[in-house]
Amino acid sequence: MRIRKAVFPVAGMGTRFLPATKASAKEMLPVVDKPLIQYAVQEAINAGAQELIFITGRSKNSIMDHFDKAYELEAELEARGKQKLLETVQDIVPSGVTCIFIRQSEALGLGHAVLCAWPAVGDEDFYVILADDLIDGRLQPALSQMHRVYQQYGTSVLAVQRVPKEETGSYGVVDAQPIGPGLNEIKRIVEKPKPEEAPSNLAVVGRYILTPRIFKLLERTQRGAGGEIQLTDAISAMLNEQTVLAYEFEGTRYDCGSKLGYLRANVEYGLKHPDLADEFKAYLTSLTAGWHHGAEHVGTIVKKG
Ligand code: G1P
Repeated sequence: MRIRKAVFPVAGMGTRFLPATKASAKEMLPVVDKPLIQYAVQEAINAGAQELIFITGRSKNSIMDHFDKAYELEAELEARGKQKLLETVQDIVPSGVTCIFIRQSEALGLGHAVLCAWPAVGDEDFYVILADDLIDGRLQPALSQMHRVYQQYGTSVLAVQRVPKEETGSYGVVDAQPIGPGLNEIKRIVEKPKPEEAPSNLAVVGRYILTPRIFKLLERTQRGAGGEIQLTDAISAMLNEQTVLAYEFEGTRYDCGSKLGYLRANVEYGLKHPDLADEFKAYLTSLTAGWHHGAEHVGTIVKKG
């Protein structure tokens, strides 16, 4: 059982990063030297995806360009003998992988964006990846971990993570029954509940494996939280018909939709980058050595929003 198609909803406006996102896509913000969307695409390809379906909107042409062949650039790098850089550019989309772009003309929410992918996905199980949730999987990328679960159970799987209770209002939150290590069967799912109404602190983060049944349910889904057509509401309807699992992946998630989460990702990926790690670490050490004891303190909990 293999999943061949991955959907990337990338039509969001990215208001939290204005003015950086006034004329360009938030998914093109780089973490060290790669745009967020490229990390998401690599994770999908690693998990077996061969057809990448981008649901785009206005000011998103740079995403299309990024995954297209850049003839002039490649010719120039070749002429200058920059072989390594040439490979870096050519490897963005490996051969055998196709990109499809669908324009979501109205910003009606994540559920609506996923529904726009129906003509390209058809009647197959598929991935959904939200690029601003960057996940550094401990032993394996998060989506590959989920795919392992999918191979065993053959049903929808959502990535979940425990969050501080006061943050439930930023997430889809599940009421779930444990069925194995890190694995739960979802009984109920609610979009952005207030902490006092949240069924738990187990929050959905931006990775989903879904069965195509979701499309029929999305068609019937009315506007929900924030006046948007919510994917969570269609998943809630699916619970009456099919098993949906919540999987607590191993790894670290960076909420790159928030400035602090994005900065944290840049620092931690910078510290692991083969060309930068040593110098960057020395720089950070010298910087922190200059800080007064008990003065500025860097928190470890990164809030969403
Ligand atoms: C979306 C989903 C939400 C999920 C979150 C993960 O919300 O609607 O259920 O928990 O992504 O990042 P958004 O962050 O787009 O408001």
